[in-house]
Amino acid sequence: MPDSTFFIKTFGCQMNIRDSEIMAQKLSENGYIETSVLNDAELIIINTCSVRGKAEQKVFSMLGSLRKQKLTNPALKICVAGCVAQQEGQKIIDRMGHVDLVIGTQHIYKLPELLAQLSTGRTAINLSDTYEIPQYIPKIQGSQTTDFEPLEPARPFQFSRFVTIMQGCNNFCTYCVVPYTRGREVSRNAEDIVQEVDILVQSGVKEITLLGQNVNSYGSTNTVANGSLPYSFARLLRDVSRVEGLKRLRFTTSHPKDISDELIDCFSTIPNLCPQIHLPVQSGSDRILKRMNRKYSIASYLEKIDRLQSARPGIAITTDMIIGFPGETNRDFQDTMDLLERVRYHGSFSFKYSDRPGTAAASYAEKLSETEKGRRLQIFQNRQDQISLERNREYIGQTLSVLVETNMDGRLMGRSATNHIVHAAGVTGTIQPGAFVDAEIFHAGQHSLLGRLSE
Ligand code: 5AD
Ligand code: SF4
Repeated sequence: MPDSTFFIKTFGCQMNIRDSEIMAQKLSENGYIETSVLNDAELIIINTCSVRGKAEQKVFSMLGSLRKQKLTNPALKICVAGCVAQQEGQKIIDRMGHVDLVIGTQHIYKLPELLAQLSTGRTAINLSDTYEIPQYIPKIQGSQTTDFEPLEPARPFQFSRFVTIMQGCNNFCTYCVVPYTRGREVSRNAEDIVQEVDILVQSGVKEITLLGQNVNSYGSTNTVANGSLPYSFARLLRDVSRVEGLKRLRFTTSHPKDISDELIDCFSTIPNLCPQIHLPVQSGSDRILKRMNRKYSIASYLEKIDRLQSARPGIAITTDMIIGFPGETNRDFQDTMDLLERVRYHGSFSFKYSDRPGTAAASYAEKLSETEKGRRLQIFQNRQDQISLERNREYIGQTLSVLVETNMDGRLMGRSATNHIVHAAGVTGTIQPGAFVDAEIFHAGQHSLLGRLSE
């Protein structure tokens, strides 16, 4: 249906953000036009997240509010994509009669095809089964597996882009729904990744973030098409870092058990690899880590943190923490607080444990009350906020290189190599997004730094 307008609402992680970009690209190629106004759209796509119960509730409440819109405009098409779609499938259509299409995470490339089927009058479609070895990983020309090319040039004013290097996860942490919603690990061919990065950089992109649920195990399992196994993540990082003109390289997300010596070395040997790592630890208690099936101890985690800090002094370390996992005692929680004091994370995302359907932990006994989880979360977050502020103050007096994202009305905003948001005031309008400027930091807030531009 060419000339239709579409609106995409994205919940959840970077993986979903990237999937939304791919869906938008596919739709644009097929004559659809993106709108940022929900009420103007003839097609609404909700790209959903099911990692925690709260995220899933948000999806169903948004879907509920769209029911009215569909009543006033029966031609409106409503599509549910992402992890809730993968997990719930037909149940979404059964529960929400106004939903036209449910499309799982491994089928997003078929979106235009499925919409065409709907426009011929087909009733609601559900496509959310999982492949054993997914065929959906983007491939470049000459590919034997799919006809899809993700080698899109940069969008105007986007100087930082994600590139997917793998999909899925084999770890089965006991709280986590991802292995069920995203399937088994599949790595993308290294040459394709390098070529995609090259095309993006040639079209103006300055910063690339390599994306996967578990990037450190890149190349250790299935690799699509002509990739050779094993192919280490560190080797891929070196390959990508050599793309001419690439200024900044990052990656996410890492699993502590798979941080190798070779990878740690990359932080001392690859100059454009940013001094920043997101390393989710989830708990500070060995007993809880075992119950989570995380396969590392706090001692070995701390040893890796020390080595990362020696490899790249000043590296900014962030983490994820689950508070109130089933069976978490006061002592276990204290271990988490002690870990926070020991590492002094630059920042963290922390969540109350939430039961996810089909996961092992959902059937564990010794569940904590919501009140107790909330109490502990508050203690953790209050202390993290103080530490983030103290960490940010360490930058006062330093001059940081900032990749400019916006420059309006004399106020500039961008990011440092450590991934901190930096603001600068009294700036001329001639500095364009995508430029690098040096900013001397003179003030630190909890969430951002304030600097003045160096001459
Ligand atoms: N409950 C709470 N937090 C969770 N996460 C994943 N699953 C759950 C769950 N069942 C958190 C983890 C993960 C982040 C993306 O979400 O901290 O790293
Ligand atoms: Fe989930 Fe664990 Fe895989 Fe991360 S490593 S996606 S937490 S199962």
